Order: sequence, then structure tokens, then C-alpha cells
Amino acid sequence: MKLTVNGTPLEADVEPDMPLLWVLRDELNIKGPKYGCGIAQCGACTVHMDGEAVRSCQVAAADAEGAAITTIEGLGQPDSLHAVQRAWITHQVAQCGYCQSGQIMQAAALLESTPAPTDDEIDEAMNGNLCRCGTYPRIRAAIKTAAQLLEES
Ligand code: FES
Ligand code: FES
Repeated sequence: MKLTVNGTPLEADVEPDMPLLWVLRDELNIKGPKYGCGIAQCGACTVHMDGEAVRSCQVAAADAEGAAITTIEGLGQPDSLHAVQRAWITHQVAQCGYCQSGQIMQAAALLESTPAPTDDEIDEAMNGNLCRCGTYPRIRAAIKTAAQLLEES
């Protein structure tokens, strides 16, 4: 299959029903997206596919053929972090970190579609991204800061 990951055209020789998460992690060695549940219940595997946040554990390789995939590795770079990443640092959101790439990718997609989300809109958008460490209050605060940063940019 052919797909573009973080702007780079790549090929992977995989079965059509292999989950995109496995394609990324096991075939392409892109480890940012995490395996949490495998059944669309945690959000740890969230990536962007053609700009939309998707659960990569639920996307078949065949359905990702030709798509533009963005993972946390491609959202920003160390010298040019995405506003969401900068806000995450400001609020020191991460604890163990396991869920965080999924949280950040979900938040970035939210701000693309809803630049100034309300608390309810944040809760609704982030509802499916679980955090065992309970970082939810800081996630909400960081999303609001990221929205401000994007507005000012
Ligand atoms: S691993 Fe995909 S939603 Fe949990
Ligand atoms: S930071 Fe530990 S699970 Fe979210």
C-alpha cells in the first residue's frame, strides 16, 4: 500500500485488513501512536487522516491507501512546535505520557474545526480520549491556551 505519513510518501507491504496502527508502528517504525485498547475505546492511537482525527486501530490499511496521515511526529518539530504542543508544555499536562500523543492529535483536530471551543465542546470532542492519570483539567486548560496562541498567530 502507498500512503503519505507526515509529508513523506511511503510504501508498506501489508495485508489490506491490517490496522493502520500496526502499519505505522510495526511496519514503518512510527511509534508516536500508541496501542491502548484496540477497540476504539481509549484514543491512544489517534492520528489525522486527511485532516480528520481517526482511531488508527480501527482503520484498515486498505482504507488508508493514498491518504495523508499525520502522527504526533509530524504535528510540529522541536524548533517549531504546534500551538497545542506549546500549550501542553505551558500547562505541564503529561503525567505518564502514554495517552498524550492521542490527546494532542485529538485536540489539534478540534481546534482546526472549532477555533474557540467552549468547555462543553472540549468535553464532547475529548470524551473518547481516556487518561488513567486524570490530566483532564490540564488538557482543557491547555486547549484554551492553544486556541489563544492560534488566534494570535
Ligand atoms: S488503541 Fe485505538 S482507541 Fe484504543
Ligand atoms: S498521562 Fe498517563 S494515561 Fe494520560
